[in-house]
Amino acid sequence: MLSVENLRKYFEVEKRFLSRSKTRVSAVDGISFEIPKGEVFAMVGESGCGKTTTGRMVLRLLDVSDGKIVFDGVDITKVSQRKLKQVRRKMQVVFQDPYDSLNPRMSVRQIVSEPLMTYHIGTSEAEREGIVLSVLKSVELEPPEEFIERYPHELSGGQRQRGRDSQGARPDSQLHPRG
Ligand SMILES: Nc1ncnc2c1ncn2[C@@H]1O[C@H](COP(=O)(O)OP(=O)(O)OP(=O)(O)O)[C@@H](O)[C@H]1O
Ligand SMILES: [Mg+2]
Repeated sequence: MLSVENLRKYFEVEKRFLSRSKTRVSAVDGISFEIPKGEVFAMVGESGCGKTTTGRMVLRLLDVSDGKIVFDGVDITKVSQRKLKQVRRKMQVVFQDPYDSLNPRMSVRQIVSEPLMTYHIGTSEAEREGIVLSVLKSVELEPPEEFIERYPHELSGGQRQRGRDSQGARPDSQLHPRG
């Protein structure tokens, strides 16, 4: 499903205040792994070792400095934004900080509907509402008719992090420690 080969990421950072010179930080230094379909994969390592940077590159939220990423048979290391859009339909990220990830001015209905519209899933408002309700149900935000109207501040930390693949398991803060 996912194959990562010798992935690297360098960041250019200012050396110090008022100095023009830049220095190169190596955030990910040649990592390789494969994740077969249907498998749960955990990456563990000390703070700052490059886990989040690796995840952001896999999602192509960050450009890759070197190496190769193949997702579902497609080399996505350097694909166009258009092609990337097709691939992104099959990817999902639950960010570290659920308080930062959800727009406080948007209701659960709007938050969950937005990607459906972006990726042209569902042809009518009514169909999308049905999808949103079934997604809420599948992550145990029940009754879904009640949760769909709520805003992020009306949810618990764990409720904000529910992902579609959790199916019964509660991805609460203990399962998403900082890191
Ligand atoms: N935009 C950036 N510019 C410069 N350096 C960065 C940038 N983003 C991350 N880094 C550096 O890259 C390294 C890896 O960071 P990353 O966020 O991937 O770590 P992590 O393994 O997720 O850590 P944590 O467990 O603390 O979340 C760190 O040394 C970090 O300071
Ligand atoms: Mg991290």
